Amino acid sequence: MRVIESVAEMRTARASARAPVGLVPTMGALHDGHATLVRRARAENSTVVTSLFVNPTQFGPGEDFANYPRTRDRDLRVSEEAGTDLVFAPAIDEIYPTGGTTVVDPGPIGEVLEGKHRPGHFKGVATVVSKLFAIVRPDGAYFGEKDAQQLRIIRHINRDLRFGIEIVGVPTVRAPDGLALSSRNRYLTLEQRRAAAVLYRSLRVAEQLWRRGERRSGALKVAIQETVAAEPLVSMEYVSVADSDSLNEIEVVDRLALVSLAAHVGKARLIDNMSLPAGLSPAGTGRDV
Ligand code: PAF
Repeated sequence: MRVIESVAEMRTARASARAPVGLVPTMGALHDGHATLVRRARAENSTVVTSLFVNPTQFGPGEDFANYPRTRDRDLRVSEEAGTDLVFAPAIDEIYPTGGTTVVDPGPIGEVLEGKHRPGHFKGVATVVSKLFAIVRPDGAYFGEKDAQQLRIIRHINRDLRFGIEIVGVPTVRAPDGLALSSRNRYLTLEQRRAAAVLYRSLRVAEQLWRRGERRSGALKVAIQETVAAEPLVSMEYVSVADSDSLNEIEVVDRLALVSLAAHVGKARLIDNMSLPAGLSPAGTGRDV
């Protein structure tokens, strides 16, 4: 595995890399969810590039950019063990050259849900991912379904900006108690970590209701809120039942829906989601170009 720190070197390496090239963009602090993305990319590509870059523009004022875990040595080990060929770990000015002003704005889909609670977040994500796509020029790029809105936004910019990259969504990796793996889980104390499992449990409660025929979004949201409210260490920020494509809220689950939530547990802000189809049994999302 080779570690590359400059855009120029990355472009040269890309020019002689065996295709297809798969890219796994990350902010480091790798866990088994990231390793799963890399393993999937490994299985589907001749060359796997994993990027490690804590992107300043996707953090709002007062968010955790300064304290975001930076674990480079461990990240390099995890990347290599999972099958990475090239790690792209640029310094900030390689990605944001002095005087640069260009921003990629994904439009309304970036302003609901997470975008409403984290203004500007998805402009930062769309901008850095566009830059990574332009530098690495991958054939496929791999993203976790835990960041459901991010995945949709990346599909959206891939289509709008005509990148022509295959965007692959990979199912969320969970701990045995259901908590979605996240780099921010490391902010939790033992007690908070135990409490955080209520988030997935609340989604399961809503899923059970839905299986029994409940289709009113309001009832599903109340079930989630009540389940989470029983756990005093967890404070809900929002819960949403939205059309899976547009991410606009829906009153009735009469089409593929995304149920998503955000909550605060100690110093960590955690998100999770599940998909509910219009039909009989829950399913995740697939892949598209
Ligand atoms: O999901 C992440 O880790 C980040 O948002 C991404 C896609 C690497 C962009 O910085």
